[in-house]
Amino acid sequence: MASNAPAGQREGESSDQAPRRDRIELSPLPPEANPADPGFEILLKDLAVGFVSTSAMEVDAEIDRWLGRITSFFGADRSSISQRTPTGFSVTHCWAREPKHLPTLGRDERTFPHIAAAIGRGEPYLFPHVDDIPPDHFEEREAVRTEGIKSHVSVPMVVAGQIVGVMSVSFMRSECPWVAGISRRIELVVTVIGNALARKTEAAERRMTARALAHAERIATLGQLASSFAHELNQPLAASLTNSDSALRLLDRKPPDLAEVREALVDIAADMRRAGDIVRELRGYLRRQNMKVEAVDLGRFATSVTRFLLPEARRRGVDLRIDVASGPRSAAVDRIQLQQALVNLALNAFQALEGAPAGRRRVTLTFGAPVEGRFPLSVADNGPGVPESMRASLFAPFATTKPEGIGLGLPICRNIAEAHGGTLEYTPSPSGGAVFSFSVPVATGPAHGR
Ligand SMILES: Nc1ncnc2c1ncn2[C@@H]1O[C@H](COP(=O)(O)OP(=O)(O)OP(=O)(O)O)[C@@H](O)[C@H]1O
Ligand SMILES: [Mg+2]
Repeated sequence: MASNAPAGQREGESSDQAPRRDRIELSPLPPEANPADPGFEILLKDLAVGFVSTSAMEVDAEIDRWLGRITSFFGADRSSISQRTPTGFSVTHCWAREPKHLPTLGRDERTFPHIAAAIGRGEPYLFPHVDDIPPDHFEEREAVRTEGIKSHVSVPMVVAGQIVGVMSVSFMRSECPWVAGISRRIELVVTVIGNALARKTEAAERRMTARALAHAERIATLGQLASSFAHELNQPLAASLTNSDSALRLLDRKPPDLAEVREALVDIAADMRRAGDIVRELRGYLRRQNMKVEAVDLGRFATSVTRFLLPEARRRGVDLRIDVASGPRSAAVDRIQLQQALVNLALNAFQALEGAPAGRRRVTLTFGAPVEGRFPLSVADNGPGVPESMRASLFAPFATTKPEGIGLGLPICRNIAEAHGGTLEYTPSPSGGAVFSFSVPVATGPAHGR
């Protein structure tokens, strides 16, 4: 085991440090270990079977569920999975017996530098008793004291030879002298979980590629649309230019031919009306495009949007919250368009939080109670808010402050909001951050479908 093995090991526990054996070694378990569970082998088999039949989208929920069962099985009080990010490890799943056992906010590898170092080397880190923490591991001693941990084990999560994360199990109510034995079992558990997470990451990458393709397609479609409308607009604009040139010439005549000037101006006005119609047609087209309004239950809809956004939020260390008002929830919306608007706004919010400290990134999607026949919806973040320089052109196409941005997200969202009879507004949040809000109509009939 770990670099701290001698410190974490007591006399008589050397068997846990022995080379790995083929059979799982069952050391005595605490009396409170789930008595209904006949043994670790059954737990491991259930775990493996559970994850094999879990779709990539459901892996996170399945891990959350399993952490509870695993923690109870070991008689522990908290367990967590942290995944490796470009800047270190970040907690992505956690289960605690009681809220007071949840990890403190803002902790990262600086809080546990020696644990992070051991995991980075591919070694577990454990201590059956706080006194077993090596004396020079000051940070761990301090963190353990503030969190009230009595015994602990962290095991690296290795997938395809790479350390991709860590699973930690902590005991808070009483010490657990057999953490070394538990460590061997967690190695097996974490292999199953690591492979499931790898499958989920691959699926998320495939989805991101699909989204990037859809983005490119959107731009190509808009490009084609723009060029065909530009072509149509060109005709009345060119005619107006010719008519205004001739009107000027007619005015220069001595005496000026006012009757002909009048005719030219009448033509110009007609062409301008036609140009106005073309622009209105374009806006109408963009709004109506594939619009399919149906009665949608906003509660269920909120759950499906969250499920879609959660992997990205977790990857970015964002605490994603959904707030759905109780009461009537049937809205008359185009489900796909509404999802597109909320996802665009949430992605903007996630991106705005990139510079925020880990553990303080929060995005809240609110589905409010109806006001005058409309449900207010909003996406709020606690990032820096829209930069002053962007405010005037915020909803204009191609306005962006991002190196990779196109500046179409917000204009598309506003179009969607307008297609639902409202508009999209930005308000800086009083507590810092951005709030984008709009509203959708209450449906007359009951909601059906997903
Ligand atoms: N939640 C937010 N917090 C701070 N600034 C924001 C937020 N949402 C949008 N912005 C600002 O508004 C700009 C325009 O956003 P928009 O979604 O239209 O385009 P984009 O995100 O830059 O590119 P893309 O077309 O890929 O979405 C952003 O570049 C950013 O400067
Ligand atoms: Mg955007």
